[in-house]
Amino acid sequence: MHIDILTILPKLLEGPFADSILQRAQEKGLCIIHIHNIRDYSLHKQKSVDDYQFGGGAGMVMMIQPIADLIDKLKSERIYDEIIYMTPDGERLTQSTCNALSLKGNLIILCGHYKGVDQRIRDHYITREISIGDYVLSGGELAAAVLVDSLVRLIPGVLNDETSALTDSFQDGLLAPPVYTRPSVYGEWEVPEILQQGNHKLIEDWRMEEAIKKTTIRRPDLLSDQEY
Ligand code: 6GU
Repeated sequence: MHIDILTILPKLLEGPFADSILQRAQEKGLCIIHIHNIRDYSLHKQKSVDDYQFGGGAGMVMMIQPIADLIDKLKSERIYDEIIYMTPDGERLTQSTCNALSLKGNLIILCGHYKGVDQRIRDHYITREISIGDYVLSGGELAAAVLVDSLVRLIPGVLNDETSALTDSFQDGLLAPPVYTRPSVYGEWEVPEILQQGNHKLIEDWRMEEAIKKTTIRRPDLLSDQEY
């Protein structure tokens, strides 16, 4: 997987990719993540990347030229499966979108800022617009980091057995059941008996029951179109 992230604030993105699972995935060669500074492509004397909006109103708009030049350059180097724009008015990110996107080869992710990008970029370059939830962030960078993390961990070979994504919350449409580790007794708090007895069938049934219980209480919306 090859991911190019386009931003005016590259420093915001360096941290998340330089540690833990995202770092290891890159070291193992399972994904390549490039962060591009849009400002480097500005042809303006002051390297500006934004301007006042036509029609008036508060807030700056990200200009076409630096973004278009950068995307054109990337597209001349490889074929992209999706060119994604991170924006609060995009489709809401779900696990099924993550699963689908993790199977793609090459992605461009454009991080929005200010009032957003000139609509013509969205009309002519962007193939998909994604939001990470119904709240507003200062920019698309943290949302892009969330998206990339959610995709990269699904690439085969990135996680090992211990961290397997198969048992994640949402992966089977349910929230994950409770987990415990040693000691089995801590003061008055005991680990459920069933987990300590080693009967795998009973443990599996218990976990499914707990997952359904938790999902019913916290997220009944997840159960509506499924049967258990
Ligand atoms: Cl993708 N961008 C911004 N600025 N805010 C958001 C978002 C994205 N997703 C949720 N809130």
